[in-house]
Amino acid sequence: MKTTVVLGVTGSIAAYKAADLTSQLVKKGYEVVVIMTASAQKLVCPQTFLTLSRNPVITDLWTMPEWQPGHIELSDRAKLLVIVPCSANFIGKLANGIADDALSTYALSHTGKVMVVPAMNPKMWKHPAVQQNVKTLKDRGVEFIGPVSGRVACGDDGEGRMEEVPAIIARILKTI
Ligand SMILES: Cc1cc2nc3c(=O)[nH]c(=O)nc-3n(C[C@H](O)[C@H](O)[C@H](O)COP(=O)(O)O)c2cc1C
Repeated sequence: MKTTVVLGVTGSIAAYKAADLTSQLVKKGYEVVVIMTASAQKLVCPQTFLTLSRNPVITDLWTMPEWQPGHIELSDRAKLLVIVPCSANFIGKLANGIADDALSTYALSHTGKVMVVPAMNPKMWKHPAVQQNVKTLKDRGVEFIGPVSGRVACGDDGEGRMEEVPAIIARILKTI
């Protein structure tokens, strides 16, 4: 029986790195179920994750083929929800219990471990609203991986860059 990991992908330019993560987790024997936000789908194609995960990709709450909302059945077997990359917006939604799309709705039904891998401009990461939301999530037991310092896609330097895939995998392997 494979261990199930739900991989949430949100609207950050680092979303393409989640494809590599999917491929590596599948090679390590995990079942990976990918849930993408609408913004993530503007940056990376769901077909990429369908092919790499060999599983249907959840892209919308209202187009699930099953008779019951799929997120409930999935939460019964998923050991880990890892959000890679996690946008500032999605950190806010997680912290405040907002459930207005497939990923945020799934997150509220998930009872296993939650890991967040933020990626954003350093100014966004430093914003008090984001930092307050990060604190709320950490107090709730959510584990953060990164962000790290370095040059982000827009050219700014500072903390906000997504942690690299090998380090994310090392943390996942240590957790489940
Ligand atoms: C090209 C592009 C890149 C973006 N990169 C990031 C990013 O790295 N981090 C972030 O927090 N938001 C980023 N955004 C903004 C988010 O996509 C936006 O806040 C969106 O509402 C996030 O939606 P989601 O959390 O549902 O995925 C980016 C937007 C664009 C147009």
